[in-house]
Amino acid sequence: FERIKPVVVANWKMNMTLASISKFVDDFGTESFSAEVVVCPPSPYLYILDALKKQQNRSFTLGAQNVHAEKSGAYTGDVSADQLLDVGCHYVIIGHSERRAIGESNEFIHQKVRQSLETGLIPILCVGETEEERKQGKTNSVVEKQVLTALLNMNDISKVIIAYEPVWAIGTGQSAVPEQAQEVHQFIRSVLIKHFGILANQLPILYGGSAKPDNAKDYSAMNDIDGLLVGGASLKADDFKKIISAFC
Ligand code: G3P
Repeated sequence: FERIKPVVVANWKMNMTLASISKFVDDFGTESFSAEVVVCPPSPYLYILDALKKQQNRSFTLGAQNVHAEKSGAYTGDVSADQLLDVGCHYVIIGHSERRAIGESNEFIHQKVRQSLETGLIPILCVGETEEERKQGKTNSVVEKQVLTALLNMNDISKVIIAYEPVWAIGTGQSAVPEQAQEVHQFIRSVLIKHFGILANQLPILYGGSAKPDNAKDYSAMNDIDGLLVGGASLKADDFKKIISAFC
């Protein structure tokens, strides 16, 4: 059994400026990694980050934090998959709990995943239960529904990445213990295998929620944790690189 190539993703959320991004790129250095490294800045900075990384030969790939489900048209304030591809994106985060919290449904998320795959972007599909749902023992059923609705009737999911982010662990400093996350990852993999066949065995499943330099190694030791989706600890290149190294 060959291990899936690890993927480590920086989700900067609504943080950073031109100045701090330029410092991040400087500090990141020219090192290359055996893991796939993705950086997702706020959309106004995508183009400049792509230019800087090419100019300075940095080894990370560009991702976006969101995308609209439609191809183009009258959607004020939104960004399309074609536009993301146009400015150098290869990945896009879809269904983050911070977007689900402002009203994105599983069905809308499904449309976004479909549009991204059709356009050639790799969707990083986020799923995860709230604290309340976990207390009620609903973790597996919530996560299963999120995964199945998002990927329903997709004929090729081989390019999809799943990120398990328990809502109660995001930005709280209260990370899921690795064994707790491993349990859900294993469950997600079994759902993928059951509904989408053997290819699903190859899909990276990332953990997200208060991942840091000092806990990254513990996650990488788990069989079904193929990488991390990192918020707060990805804003400084040094911290982020320590996290990447735990998977290399
Ligand atoms: O997408 C990453 C995320 O939601 C986790 O955020 O700050 O807890 O690492 P953080």
